[in-house]
Amino acid sequence: MDEARPLNLYEYEALARERLSAMAWDYYSSGALDEITLRANREAFDRIELRFRVLRGARERDTSTTLLGRRHAWPLLVAPMAFARLAHPDGERAVARAGAANGVTMTLSTLSTTTLEDVAAASDHPRWFQLYVFRDRDLTAELVRRAEAAGYEALVLTVDAPELGRRERDARNRFALPPGLEAANIAAHLPPVTTDVGGSGLARFFATQIDPTLTWADVDWLRSLTRLPVLVKGVVHQEDARLAVEHGCAGVIVSNHGGRQLDTSIAAVRALPAVAGAVEGRAAVLLDGGIRRGTDVVKALALGADAVLLGRPVLWGLAVEGEAGVDHVLRLLRSEFEHAMLLCGAATRGDLTADLLA
Ligand code: FNR
Ligand code: LAC
Repeated sequence: MDEARPLNLYEYEALARERLSAMAWDYYSSGALDEITLRANREAFDRIELRFRVLRGARERDTSTTLLGRRHAWPLLVAPMAFARLAHPDGERAVARAGAANGVTMTLSTLSTTTLEDVAAASDHPRWFQLYVFRDRDLTAELVRRAEAAGYEALVLTVDAPELGRRERDARNRFALPPGLEAANIAAHLPPVTTDVGGSGLARFFATQIDPTLTWADVDWLRSLTRLPVLVKGVVHQEDARLAVEHGCAGVIVSNHGGRQLDTSIAAVRALPAVAGAVEGRAAVLLDGGIRRGTDVVKALALGADAVLLGRPVLWGLAVEGEAGVDHVLRLLRSEFEHAMLLCGAATRGDLTADLLA
């Protein structure tokens, strides 16, 4: 399909929509309720203008960055996303491999349709594991142990989903995993994500299996279980960012879950400056939600992020062309990012500073 290859991430979105089942498309693309935050994540990026610099002869262009002691070729990771095999049979393995080819760390979801061990076997590249805390704490602790044993380098504790957001399209579709797919890491221990008479089967799974009562004491509990760095994902309030640092978190991920949880919550990039200000360099600051263009990455870094995570576009690439599609999505975005840096007069990550923003 080389001739007509998509030129940008939005073109992948349009093609993915044609290829996915209606249920999978709705699940991937949905936001909560009126999808105001889903749109706001994008609109907030679009509203930020770049006050670019000129005549700086950006000779040694270097996109690399260091995160939790690891060098990354460029400041992008893959966000954790459940059920990648709804998009393509190669699912999470294809994402891991395409990430590896592009110097991109994948964050594997607890709710992956491939086991964390099988994803680990798919590539040697560093990987992170996203954790949901189940009511069954032994099962949760076992997941942490397995992630460590399989060589995952960080744990991303998602804290913005004590219940699943109300995605009305999923409720209407009675979202369920099709036959042959399961939440592979936990399928032996928990009931499957099947149709619920009342609405989304995943919402029901969350309501019955996920622990909705987490507090900072549970962050301490998690840290006591593992030697891995713990990042909290789903922070938009500066006070929570400060608490994350106090509780020893290695990083904070500014996120509203891609607009899938609390609708009308603040756009991710608008929440970033206050969080970065509260963290004061004491932990890593990452952001996700609405990254679609290289200029979005520039803006997030200029506002204080150390790196960003890419969500849905990875699934679009996967749906369109499996591993090759994810690879192309990542290459497109990296090329846009390098181009945007050059046109901003930025040679290195250190040149992406707040004065570039209008
Ligand atoms: C997600 N997200 C998510 N987050 C998480 O912590 N654990 C998970 O299992 C999932 N699952 C998931 C599935 C799907 C289909 C989507 C779209 C999202 C949220 C994800 O990590 C991230 O926060 C957003 O997707 C980022 O926004 P963009 O890039 O999709 O706009
Ligand atoms: C979602 C969950 C699984 O956003 O995080 O669908």
